[in-house]
Amino acid sequence: MPKLRIIKLPDPFLREKSLPVETVDAEVRAFLNDMLETMYVAPGVGLAAVQVGVQRRMLVIDTARGEDEEKRPLMLINPEIVSQGDVPRVHEEGCLSIPEMYAEVQRPALVRVRYVDIEGKQQEEDFQDLLATVVQHEMDHLDGYLFIDHLSRLKRDLLVKKFYKAQKEKGSAL
Ligand code: NI
Repeated sequence: MPKLRIIKLPDPFLREKSLPVETVDAEVRAFLNDMLETMYVAPGVGLAAVQVGVQRRMLVIDTARGEDEEKRPLMLINPEIVSQGDVPRVHEEGCLSIPEMYAEVQRPALVRVRYVDIEGKQQEEDFQDLLATVVQHEMDHLDGYLFIDHLSRLKRDLLVKKFYKAQKEKGSAL
């Protein structure tokens, strides 16, 4: 069972800007492990702390899918993009806070990210392709943005309407 509950649209908390993590201690590490477990169960490839109701700049990622692929969990604290490539990449994104809705989003295919790891050490790393998409999607969450904010107004409105309709149907089917 997942340890944490993932909040969904239209919860206004998703629009809050997350605050920096001041100290990387045992509590932070335990929380990141709970986030990772919650993400695997969902299942998803990325999760930001704000999505489980914690307003801190932390996220977990693992793009390995299926049983045959080895898990490669990433835990990023206070991430910042230091540079990005010029080549765009389009990916059909989804979000655990807007389940079962997908739309194409264009973002840089390469980003260099500075972050603090679970040992409290500063790291800098290049993220490419799918990892670049996921890290940018999760970092958006830390500033209160969702992937739907990258869509045209019309596309966004249609997706949100479709999501609420699906949620309502799910609710009444219970
Ligand atoms: Ni998301």
